[in-house]
Amino acid sequence: LSFSDDIEAIHRLKRERNAVILAHNYQTPEIFHGVADIVGDSLALAREATRVDADVIVLAGVHFMAETAKLLNPEKTVLIPDMAAGCSLADSITPEDIALMRQAHPGAPVVTYVNTSAAVKAASDICCTSGNAKRVVESLGVPKVLMLPDEYLARNVARETDVELIAWRGHCEVHELFTAEDVREMRAAWPGVTIIAHPECPPEVVAEADFSGSTAGMSDYVRDARPGRVVLLTECSMSDNVAVNHPDVNFVRPCNLCPHMKRITLGNIRTALQEMRHEVTVDPAIADDARRAVERMLAV
Ligand code: 13P
Ligand code: SF4
Repeated sequence: LSFSDDIEAIHRLKRERNAVILAHNYQTPEIFHGVADIVGDSLALAREATRVDADVIVLAGVHFMAETAKLLNPEKTVLIPDMAAGCSLADSITPEDIALMRQAHPGAPVVTYVNTSAAVKAASDICCTSGNAKRVVESLGVPKVLMLPDEYLARNVARETDVELIAWRGHCEVHELFTAEDVREMRAAWPGVTIIAHPECPPEVVAEADFSGSTAGMSDYVRDARPGRVVLLTECSMSDNVAVNHPDVNFVRPCNLCPHMKRITLGNIRTALQEMRHEVTVDPAIADDARRAVERMLAV
């Protein structure tokens, strides 16, 4: 009952404010299916942010996603329902770290994962997401690239490319918890199960999975391969959201919760639209450089 009350109010407020809600695949089903106008992985959200025709964007996701939307829409109001929705990867690296890495590897371009602050993006040459990392790395046409800050993403991409990738020590606190032992136990418990791992998982987990891809890649894989039983080694809401469209597929958990993604609720989305908060801004001193890194990625 309270869901439908919030959902109705949010739809009304969206019309009043001329606002759209961009929601990441890890948002809860009542947000993902109930109020979002655009849903997707990090790459889709960045791409769709360039096509928004509203005055206000509410980013139902974490802070770096809202910053990216703001970079691409400097003239629009971008709101995040909870400013504390962060990311362990974004917290793992600073612009000063990037400067030190450049000194240690002169001439090597810096590819940063979009899961970083705008300041870190500004210090890099180009961004990537888990959906385009290999393509971005190879687009540079050089033998050695610094790929920061997700160590596991870099090592997972390194297995698929001849480009030498220098990694950082950042990890996603959600995906680093999965182990190869989990994968083996699931195969024993569910013979024939299809196991899909996000590339933020440790390489030994990805190595034992049947498929690895971004959250959009996972969703497309389930749609196209129609496995009888599947495990998505990722954030819990992912299976909940995909399962709605595939009643014939048996989604086995485990999953892990992202405490940052879970800070966003119908209640604080409603408040965000009511009170027009919390507005996400980017320091003008770094905005142009950060935008360049994101736009360069979108052009690949
Ligand atoms: P993608 O949706 O781009 O796969 O990213 C996953 C993630 O962890 C975002 O926080
Ligand atoms: Fe960051 Fe991991 Fe949460 Fe995504 S799931 S926001 S990468 S901590």
